[in-house]
Amino acid sequence: MQAKLKFLPLILLVSLALPTLASSQESDTTMGRRIVQSECTRCHAVELGMTGPDPAAPNFTALARMPSVTDLSLRVFLQSSHRSMPNLVLREDETSSIIAYLRGLAH
Ligand code: HEC
Repeated sequence: MQAKLKFLPLILLVSLALPTLASSQESDTTMGRRIVQSECTRCHAVELGMTGPDPAAPNFTALARMPSVTDLSLRVFLQSSHRSMPNLVLREDETSSIIAYLRGLAH
């Protein structure tokens, strides 16, 4: 009894985390592309070698290729507020689809 209860929090955590991980992998990159084209390209460039309308905004393909850029780092960035970026209010599925699209640019 004691031993089983010890793992209960871990089991709960894993079962809560798994559906989230699975759904972010299945995210619709088409939706991500659409949002990026309408909301982000007024500052950012997507194509490698291009500079966006806001020269301070990093190129998305170059960004996606940086080893430090992960699903988690993008998620943290998109869910926090930034001085130089308008505070975007994104739904969970929008955030995941943007991440899937941006990560796909690296390939
Ligand atoms: C008004 C201009 C503007 C818009 C619109 C904008 N960005 Fe940015 N973004 C910037 C600037 C400037 C930076 C660099 C400074 C910074 O990191 O805050 C940046 C940085 C970033 C970074 C890099 C974070 C890092 O770790 O260095 C990411 C990722 C990003 N933007 C994603 C997005 C996405 C996704 C959208 C659309 C949903 C978007 N941005 C819309 C201006 C913008």
